[in-house]
Amino acid sequence: MRLTVIGTGRLGATHAACMAELGHEVAGVDVDRGKVAALGAGRVPFHEPGLAPLVARHTASGRLRFTTSFEEAGAFGQVHFVCVGTPQRQGGDAADLTCVERAFAAIAGHTRKGALLVGRSTVPVGTADRLAAAHGVEIAWNPEFLREGFAVRDTLRPDRLVFGVRTARAERLLRTVYAPLLGAGTPLVVTGFATAELVKTAANSFLATRISFINAMAEVCEATGGDVRRLAEALGLDGRIGPAFLRAGAGFGGGCLPEDIRAFAHRAAELGVDLGLLRQVDAINMRRRDRVIAMARELCGGTVLGARVAVLGAAFKPDSDDVRDSPALNVAARLGLDGADVTVYDPVAMDNAREAFPLLGYALSAEEALRGAELVLHLTEWPQFREVDPVRAAALVYRPRIVDGRGVLDADRWTAAGWRFWALGGSGPVGAAGESREGGQR
Ligand code: UGA
Repeated sequence: MRLTVIGTGRLGATHAACMAELGHEVAGVDVDRGKVAALGAGRVPFHEPGLAPLVARHTASGRLRFTTSFEEAGAFGQVHFVCVGTPQRQGGDAADLTCVERAFAAIAGHTRKGALLVGRSTVPVGTADRLAAAHGVEIAWNPEFLREGFAVRDTLRPDRLVFGVRTARAERLLRTVYAPLLGAGTPLVVTGFATAELVKTAANSFLATRISFINAMAEVCEATGGDVRRLAEALGLDGRIGPAFLRAGAGFGGGCLPEDIRAFAHRAAELGVDLGLLRQVDAINMRRRDRVIAMARELCGGTVLGARVAVLGAAFKPDSDDVRDSPALNVAARLGLDGADVTVYDPVAMDNAREAFPLLGYALSAEEALRGAELVLHLTEWPQFREVDPVRAAALVYRPRIVDGRGVLDADRWTAAGWRFWALGGSGPVGAAGESREGGQR
């Protein structure tokens, strides 16, 4: 089939390349000339494992191309996927739908007869209905569930597909687009517009709720000497609960979970439904950042003023260069404002971090960040940070004190190397200057 994908950011570029991989002819459309030029030359302007080879292969074969022309896209495609962003509106919690509305209007003005416009962006419930009425074209909603860092895998091997449709024809067209995935047994849920829109916001809200639930348990563990890692392990072994999204730590960030729960609570309130639950989820999440800062202060003897702090991690999660609402950078910036001398290192997100927080210090390696530090904060769980040798690291720092804000470092190894080790949701400071209150069960 001939498809277009409007919006060539993380979601759109991945969708376009993966649709080409499924055998379709695809045109990616964007108003950003720079992005279109880079992608057209086979280059991906952001970090997403596995995407660059797909883009390079399919642009070279001619199956995938990129354009800024909606006229060309309208003449080319039979199905048009809209994959533009819906950030949080300035000064409020609602989603900003400007890009979605513009994209639908732009393509609707150029489509050929029988074309189907498919929304994939995360939108407030009721949006598809409104767009269908406004543009008088056939619309479907097909939410995406891909995670940054696993975007290619999540598109080519999704847990499920959701089609929000109003006609059998729209369903048939989407079934043809995704035939290879459906043939491989991917579960499909066919529903109306509202449910399709809600599946996405509900899924992200549920994931955020799980993370905040375990982080609330971390707060209780900190107050009682419990160990949230063990608690999560035991909870996850219950077949009804499962282990995913129960990693306690500095909390969730990124361009999706925090904004999506706010936009969802806002939309629900507009509809007269109280989703105060999600306000609590948000509040617990933000408290984790405060907790890291409180720990940093405590470990530095009451104030971080003038303290050399090394922050390991800037991306909102590993395998991504995305720093939007990153807990790591939020903590780093706030410590900087409190007068700490902060040095950040991240394996791939340095450019984005520098652009977002130009006044922080940046190192070219973890080793360089650690040199002379009085406190180390581990805030993004890149695998390479797990491999840092605590003995070598102790020789680099001025004072061996670390907060593991992601709960993945081996407390015993670090304390054995002389570190004062403090984990979020752990049993308090352990090592040189403190004792575990739970007899070493960390
Ligand atoms: C999230 C969803 O997982 C995707 O299904 C969805 O498609 C996407 O948002 C979206 O709306 O586009 P993503 O933001 O890429 O994907 O990242 P996640 O893997 O969900 O992680 C989100 C945040 O939660 C990260 O900061 C991560 O460090 C944190 N997290 C995750 C935890 O703190 N604990 C956990 O157990 C899991």
